[in-house]
Amino acid sequence: MLSYRHAFHAGNHADILKHLVLCATLQYALRKEAALFFLDTHAGAGRYSLRSEQALQTGEASAGILRLDLAGLLAATTGEEHDLLAGYAAAVQPWLARRQYPGSPLLAAGLLRRQDHLHLCELHPTDVELLAGHLQGDRRCSVEQADGYQRALALLPPVQKRAVVLIDPSYERKDDYRKVVRLIADLQQRMRAAQLLLWYPVVERLDVESLLTGLQRSGVRDLWQFELGVAPDRGGHGLTASGMLVVNPPFTLPGALRSLLPRLQEQLAPAYGHWKVRQLIGE
Ligand SMILES: C[S@@+](CC[C@H](N)C(=O)[O-])C[C@H]1O[C@@H](n2cnc3c(N)ncnc32)[C@H](O)[C@@H]1O
Repeated sequence: MLSYRHAFHAGNHADILKHLVLCATLQYALRKEAALFFLDTHAGAGRYSLRSEQALQTGEASAGILRLDLAGLLAATTGEEHDLLAGYAAAVQPWLARRQYPGSPLLAAGLLRRQDHLHLCELHPTDVELLAGHLQGDRRCSVEQADGYQRALALLPPVQKRAVVLIDPSYERKDDYRKVVRLIADLQQRMRAAQLLLWYPVVERLDVESLLTGLQRSGVRDLWQFELGVAPDRGGHGLTASGMLVVNPPFTLPGALRSLLPRLQEQLAPAYGHWKVRQLIGE
């Protein structure tokens, strides 16, 4: 039984970090002409109204993307930090102008080219229908009501030979922590060069620690951790931070995030925010 609906959380601090990293990874991969395969194992509904009852009930977008002064940040940044933010800003701003926030599938669809392919898995019957509706007629996209963990193993390596995979579970079930470790290790074994992006929540820090230990023992190579928090850890009482674990990130990404994350933290949570950029496992 799936109860998680991303409509309550779209545009929160976790989406900002996740989608910054996603846009940067895709934009870097698109510098090469050869076709790219993008897999979203937990795709969600695709786009979200920031005026919906769900969004207004939690206020998460108001404390997240709507609080960010994107124009001010763009004016204050230069070099790779600026490019990182500019890529994300250009992707989300047209949606924000309509009081909507794009999910990962629509962000990717906006960036990818004619020769690329998107494969989007979503289990929730309502969200998969919404997603299919938003992407109707886009021949680059396959939308499937399917278990993203299982499909990922069947789909990699793809014929395109270049892949970016976003793994973004809701962690409604505790076994998600174990399943993501297995999946990352299996995918890297199948396709060494794939760029694998795994999102994690910080609700209970011990869960994150065991996720990191699991990955460190799994044999995975070139793994980085990027984290952004808006409050100190609260031991199981709500989402205080989130992170992205990235296998084979673009080489410019860690440096750019080291400069940008403190600025985001300053705007989103000046008093109690925190951030982290570190390599967990070498190449
Ligand atoms: C955090 S949301 C995805 C948000 C989306 N990736 C984005 O960034 O816009 C997680 C989604 O995974 C779906 N889900 C849960 N278990 C799944 C599974 N085993 N396979 C595919 N989708 C699943 C949930 O219904 C939910 O919509």
